Amino acid sequence: MAIKTQRANRNNAPIPSGTERVKVLLTHAKIQKRIREMAKLIRKDFPNEPLLLVGVLKGAVLFLADLARQITGEVTFDFIAVSSYGKDSRSSGQVKLNKDLDSSIEGKTVIVVEDILDTGLTLRYLLRILQQRKPKNLRVAVLLDKVERRLTDVTADYVGFAIPNEFVVGYGLDYAERYRNLPDVRILSLPGGNH
Ligand code: XMP
Ligand code: MG
Repeated sequence: MAIKTQRANRNNAPIPSGTERVKVLLTHAKIQKRIREMAKLIRKDFPNEPLLLVGVLKGAVLFLADLARQITGEVTFDFIAVSSYGKDSRSSGQVKLNKDLDSSIEGKTVIVVEDILDTGLTLRYLLRILQQRKPKNLRVAVLLDKVERRLTDVTADYVGFAIPNEFVVGYGLDYAERYRNLPDVRILSLPGGNH
């Protein structure tokens, strides 16, 4: 599929229109099947515990919605929003908290639900601030894991799919806020190379 459109660079400044190409990497059916498996694994680890899913806005929204529906027993959710900042936001590891949780997590079994684990810097920050709040258990579920991009030793407890080092969109993941609504995960290539 090719979409002819006005696109934006990292700073959201409009740049001349080009042809962005997307190629399906993970179909909706494949994603749903894996989410059912992940939900079972999570419940198996905590058979009798109420679980608090903490979704990382905005990318994890679709994943959390589907995962929550597949986990049996008591499940609640809350959301947190972070962004990278600093000169080289990709590798500086400076992360800013844009929206905090609504409620305390003290004494709770918390599963952080994230769309993609890339360098790991965002997750490292999140785990540090959440751990300080004394949850009973703190675990991480990610849909996608770009293993070769990792800059820290952070790992997820539940991983949907290990994927190659390609920029992906869809199923919550965006390029300049677009593509989040795609039902599947696709590799995005931009005209004239990639980002
Ligand atoms: P780090 O590097 O901190 O980053 O693990 C995780 C965040 O980076 C974003 N990210 C992506 N977003 N397609 C996207 O749409 C990608 O291929 C991609 N790789 C990283 C994402 O926001 C994630 O939470
Ligand atoms: Mg994200």
